[in-house]
Amino acid sequence: MRRAYGAGRSATVALDDVELTVPPGRFVSLIGPSGCGKSTLLRIVAGLEQPDRGEVLVHGVAPAEACAAKMVGLVPQSPALLPWLSVLRNVTLPQRLNSGAARRRERIPGLAAREAAAPARTVQELLAAAGLGESLHKLPAELSGGMRQRVAIVRAFALRPDVLVMDEPFSALDELTRESLQDQLLALWEEWRTTVLFVTHSVTEAVRLSDTVVVMARGPGRIVETVGIDLPRPRDEGLMRERRFHAYEDLVRDRLRRAWHSEAA
Ligand SMILES: Nc1ncnc2c1ncn2[C@@H]1O[C@H](COP(=O)(O)OP(=O)(O)OP(=O)(O)O)[C@@H](O)[C@H]1O
Ligand SMILES: [Mg+2]
Repeated sequence: MRRAYGAGRSATVALDDVELTVPPGRFVSLIGPSGCGKSTLLRIVAGLEQPDRGEVLVHGVAPAEACAAKMVGLVPQSPALLPWLSVLRNVTLPQRLNSGAARRRERIPGLAAREAAAPARTVQELLAAAGLGESLHKLPAELSGGMRQRVAIVRAFALRPDVLVMDEPFSALDELTRESLQDQLLALWEEWRTTVLFVTHSVTEAVRLSDTVVVMARGPGRIVETVGIDLPRPRDEGLMRERRFHAYEDLVRDRLRRAWHSEAA
């Protein structure tokens, strides 16, 4: 798959020759230097942009169709909340706009069975778990940046998507909030077995969360290495102190460094 912006000599090739298969239910992280096309790749999966060449399928259907069927939940790099709606109404907005989605979902094979198997969680439960229980009726302007980011995360979760696409969702948060939200994300993922595509700049976060870490390089944006993280779950504090956890961090860091040098060459 390829995606370029602009034409001719001044074109920026955001993604070139990118090929990636994510098995359903897998947690995959993308890591790589700024400008290597991570957000572009996520936007393509979420149906917000099209590749110039090649094809992307989400559970066998085109991203735009998957999106219309509310199969894809996107947490964008900046939260994009509607300033005139309360926290609660921001989170429930996609469901209220949802009228055609149910019909579309019926047409996609296997979806109904997966939906029936997933335990239900109310929006209020999700907001409380994200530490927003007291803020249901506040407006985005009354929240901190990290709180706004958490609203965007809950909004994506609330649709119970088959594919959750998250662009640096935790980068604006303090370390302890970040760890607590990682725990909540992993708990939901283990319950729902949603497929996750997750962008981060943190090697530790990538290793902790993922089944697979995809290392990217720039100029043109491309995948240079795929690292399988063969560590047991839960990946709790104890495991994060073990040598084998650090060995994976070193490995991913080493691949990132290599990707960096391959650009300079
Ligand atoms: N709408 C656009 N028009 C022109 N160029 C764009 C556009 N969106 C992205 N690009 C370019 O495509 C390349 C990849 O951008 P992208 O946002 O995907 O990078 P990224 O890996 O997400 O970076 P970061 O880690 O900084 O978020 C960059 O060179 C960027 O300038
Ligand atoms: Mg980005």
